[in-house]
Amino acid sequence: MAMALLGAVLSYRAEARPLLRICVDTANPTMRMDARIAREAAATEGYAVRFSHFVGYGRGGDGFPIGRFAKMARSECELIMGFPVDASDAHLPPDVQATTAYASTGFVLVRRAAARARRLSQMPRGSEVGIAQLDTYAGLLFSQHPNITMHVYPSDADMVADLEARHLAAGLAWQPSIEAYLHRHPGAASLREDLLPGPHMRWNLVALYAPRSSAAAQAFASGVEALRRRGALSRLILPYESAEPEAPAGPPALYTEAQATQGALAYAQNCAMCHGPLLDGQEGGYSGPALKGADFADPSYDFHVSDIFNFVAKLMPAATPGSLNPEQDVEIMAFLLKENGYPAGNQALTYGEASASKVPILYYGK
Ligand code: HEC
Repeated sequence: MAMALLGAVLSYRAEARPLLRICVDTANPTMRMDARIAREAAATEGYAVRFSHFVGYGRGGDGFPIGRFAKMARSECELIMGFPVDASDAHLPPDVQATTAYASTGFVLVRRAAARARRLSQMPRGSEVGIAQLDTYAGLLFSQHPNITMHVYPSDADMVADLEARHLAAGLAWQPSIEAYLHRHPGAASLREDLLPGPHMRWNLVALYAPRSSAAAQAFASGVEALRRRGALSRLILPYESAEPEAPAGPPALYTEAQATQGALAYAQNCAMCHGPLLDGQEGGYSGPALKGADFADPSYDFHVSDIFNFVAKLMPAATPGSLNPEQDVEIMAFLLKENGYPAGNQALTYGEASASKVPILYYGK
């Protein structure tokens, strides 16, 4: 009996995750954000990810042939991250499809904190304005504002330097690129940005894919949606480029405090004799494994809430499997989540959610 159960545990652990191969453009200032979102969205849906990189420099122009996207999507990866789509004139490369947007961005007016104008139309005659990316829609704006004198810079960094030195009244920039710069130069934090109004200024970031990868694209989209629902998406977006090691997204609230309290009682009566009142299992001298902590929730096991829940509901308590009612199973799951550092919320965990949840089991305690 014990052997059979052990076999069941081991086979849960060996279950391999499907792999999502993701191409990330290293010339894109959203690269780190793209990777963060891909990793989290994939994990939510039970996928592992493998990144491969390409340099999409000069996209659409001479450098990077736009038709290359279809080839990459057919043979190299299921998703190509970070493709910006004009919100006022969606235009995709040939022979690829796009997921719904996972982030939106655009062109911004950058100014010193004390400066008042937030749009080009508010700037006094003769204002000097810089831009590093002349070959963009923002570059076209100058022709609509004859009041303004334009200066072209080789890079955002040069433009920002002149802005800080007060040689410019403002600058135009692609938001991810200027935010990446400001993030690496915290001294420049006194600058402010405002998204520019008007057509061709707002852009959505999407993942591109070929028809063969529509299941993967669907999983990615529902992963992003799940991150959005639990409020984790905006934290993954900004800053676009993060120099620090990425902070992992915090654990979601899946149960109520009342459930965890009931669960603690049911645990004490039905589980503690084998797993220990402190859930430390064999370490505390009990027969069963620990049910909390870094060993129990080792990321390499790749457990999800549903794996643990269904295991408990079917196979525990080991001596009398299936002897608890469904409500108790759910409450015990709430207690196990609490003990592993997941916060209580105001939505009760249901049996259906617990048995299907792809939220990873990780240890968030100290
Ligand atoms: C009679 C002793 C006993 C009782 C009672 C018991 N368990 Fe277990 N449990 C075990 C043993 C032993 C294992 C290891 C798997 C095996 O049986 O080979 C285990 C495994 C588990 C696992 C899998 C852990 C992992 O890391 O793979 C979970 C989760 C679990 N038990 C939860 C519970 C819960 C919740 C209860 C109470 C409802 C409970 N157990 C009651 C003995 C027990």
